[in-house]
Amino acid sequence: MARNPPIIYLNNAATTWPKPPDVLEAARRSLALPVFGSGRTTGSQGEDYITLAREALSRLLAADPPEHVVFTQNATDSLNLLIQGFLAGQEAGCHVLTTALEHNSVLRPLHEWERQHGIRLTIIPFEGCFVSPAAVRAAIEPDTRLMVMNHGSNVLGSVQEIARIGEILHDHGVYFIVDGAQTAGHIPVNLRELPVDAYAFTGHKGLFGLPGVGGFYLRDPEAIAPIRFGGTGTDSFSLLHPREMPERFEAGTHNYPGLAALAAGVDYIMSAGVEAIAAKAERQTGYLIGELRKAPNITIYNDRPSLPIVSFNIQGMENDDVGFILARGYGIIARTGIHCAPLMHRAIDGGVGCVRLSLSWLTTDDECRIAAEAVREIADNAYSQVSSP
Ligand SMILES: Cc1ncc(COP(=O)(O)O)c(C=O)c1O
Repeated sequence: MARNPPIIYLNNAATTWPKPPDVLEAARRSLALPVFGSGRTTGSQGEDYITLAREALSRLLAADPPEHVVFTQNATDSLNLLIQGFLAGQEAGCHVLTTALEHNSVLRPLHEWERQHGIRLTIIPFEGCFVSPAAVRAAIEPDTRLMVMNHGSNVLGSVQEIARIGEILHDHGVYFIVDGAQTAGHIPVNLRELPVDAYAFTGHKGLFGLPGVGGFYLRDPEAIAPIRFGGTGTDSFSLLHPREMPERFEAGTHNYPGLAALAAGVDYIMSAGVEAIAAKAERQTGYLIGELRKAPNITIYNDRPSLPIVSFNIQGMENDDVGFILARGYGIIARTGIHCAPLMHRAIDGGVGCVRLSLSWLTTDDECRIAAEAVREIADNAYSQVSSP
């Protein structure tokens, strides 16, 4: 074991690190110069970071028009605004679908609404790493109004068939909100073609932005009631909040250093090419899984992820202990425990949680090799302790 090894950061599904230099520079520059934002400031020097970021996201996700891209604090904030804004316009007690694959940023807003306002919530189980379109169809009832599910799982790294699921939902008049926290920036997403009504994203994961910025794309603004009101810098004599996009859902001062960084992050991944990012992720996770599979005492929970996520446990060891040894002994930062997806953990690992290694476009092959060797070494030690008399 090396002493003071360099850090190998493999917790990118939580937040990406390092950030590309252009991202850091964009944040720094936005604070070093006076701000220029359309409608709010005099002067024309400097950049309109908010519009730049909106246009960048619109290009990346094929989300038209750019004004239908709304900025929030993160994916959680977006999902709250979308879920509550949609359900506010529905009859009390209506039926809502979600899945056992979800993050708490979907499960908690839905369960809170169930407790406070009474919806009937059906949680669709998954098989393998996927929710089957047939199971979604079977769960639809005459008063089903909404389905909320993730595009990509933060534990299994599986990408769901949202195109097929969206078609089925729309055939039955069910509104479809997709949590894209783990897919934006990792795989190509074309919202012009996908039958999705709203797609939530976060800035600090695959988009390489800073924490505290996210957003959503909304096809039909009228479907969601705004629940935040305040200053927009437009129509200031009106005592009611503007209903035009994107102001309809944006109130108060934007996180413009965060948006400047987000625009730079999106430019960065678009110049790398999202297809190339996805292909590298598949290759590196394939390698890691292949290596981990060689150990007889490692349980891998995702066989062929489409996202750069590998989740596992070493038999007979607490996952927290594995994470501790990885960090202390090898300088590898992983994530352990319950990854904010309680229903999934109950299904895959009996609720004990697991170790997750998650990569980014900046993860090197060498880092993957070192991580694979480290996990194998920990597993081999555990195995020899169990098998020695
Ligand atoms: C699938 C999924 N949804 C939502 C979120 C929430 O993202 P944020 O913390 O940026 O709001 C995460 C973050 O881990 C996630 O993995």
